[in-house]
Amino acid sequence: MARLLITGGAGFIGSHTCVVLLEAGHNLLVLDNFSNSSPVALERLKSILNLNDRDSASRLQVFQGDVRDIDLLEKIFEKSELQSSPIEAVIHFAGLKAVEESVHDPLGYWDVNVSGSRTLLEVMDKHDCKTLVFSSSATLYGYPDIVPIPESAPINPINPYGASKAAVEMMLADVAGCLKDRGIKQASTTGWRIARLRYFNPVGAHPSGCIGEDPNGVPNNLFPYVSQVAIGRRGTLQVFGSDWPTSDGTGIRDYIHVMDLAEGHKCALDALVGSGPQLLTLNLGSGVGSSVLEVIRAFETASGREVPYKIVERRPGDAAITVADPTLAYKCLGWRTRRGLNEICRDGWAWQFANPNGYKGEVA
Ligand SMILES: NC(=O)c1ccc[n+]([C@@H]2O[C@H](COP(=O)([O-])OP(=O)(O)OC[C@H]3O[C@@H](n4cnc5c(N)ncnc54)[C@H](O)[C@@H]3O)[C@@H](O)[C@H]2O)c1
Repeated sequence: MARLLITGGAGFIGSHTCVVLLEAGHNLLVLDNFSNSSPVALERLKSILNLNDRDSASRLQVFQGDVRDIDLLEKIFEKSELQSSPIEAVIHFAGLKAVEESVHDPLGYWDVNVSGSRTLLEVMDKHDCKTLVFSSSATLYGYPDIVPIPESAPINPINPYGASKAAVEMMLADVAGCLKDRGIKQASTTGWRIARLRYFNPVGAHPSGCIGEDPNGVPNNLFPYVSQVAIGRRGTLQVFGSDWPTSDGTGIRDYIHVMDLAEGHKCALDALVGSGPQLLTLNLGSGVGSSVLEVIRAFETASGREVPYKIVERRPGDAAITVADPTLAYKCLGWRTRRGLNEICRDGWAWQFANPNGYKGEVA
């Protein structure tokens, strides 16, 4: 069992991954500045896992701070070494993720996502911690030519968020000494073991309903929006375009249950630790596409509530269909999604129903 640093571990994907890693027996250090999350999520982990105060003090340590703060990162690594339990690997979730916001604040996105990753890599290198799982994104494929999208598809980001993920991917290839950056599984010449995981559309929640997605302000993505309409927090859902070249005219996406995604991180970590230095680049998606109208219907069934919607103009920057080819993740990790749209809606609704206002108003 390893001691792991999880940056952004209080966030949506991070908190669910923490559950899976704690269940697997790992000890976690979470670094988060809570700019888009709540410490309450980490408290809830303890109840999901029945950790008492003594267990949680040793198994889940929380550091509030910024991933760009090199002194804080140094302290975290040094403290672990002094306790004779050095950090063996890092899962790096911390970052900004809103596409539209990135268009208005490109420098902010390059700073947090790219400079934050660079700072983290520098400290990891100094402390000879060379195993990293990085949160990349299918956004970097832009408008895909081939669907389902294989990892070998061109990288063609169409917004600053996607560009920042592409930049970190390139930095990681350089750090791993993989100059011909096109292979999916390449030997690293520098001793680094790195997985670049390209997520498709993470949704759903832990089946307990205790943790889930809690976006600040108006949700940018379909799922939390549908969920907030169903619970009555928002009036009508806007469906952007009904004239896409798809079966029902609405956009198609590859939705992945956040617990499947969390398990994918554990598999990636195991694969890195269990083999030599390498750079892995993998899509994490289900390979199944669902249209907006299919999502609405599935959510209505799961919740027993109506989700009123209105068709409006297409949004600039959207693609008609984005679906992963997840074959390589199965070949390299033995991982594939196990939960479908019905489980996604069931668990997402359980979270929304139990927490109509998310974590807001609750003190950790
Ligand atoms: N959710 C998605 O649709 C999606 C898709 C593809 C990739 N990703 C990537 O996965 C990662 C996790 O996404 P998520 O959905 O859990 O997002 P999230 O916003 O819920 O989680 C990110 C966490 O990082 C923290 N954070 C942000 N900036 C920080 C900083 N400077 N220092 C320390 N902590 C900081 C936030 O407070 C939050 O807890 C992100 O890197 C995101 O870009 C997400």
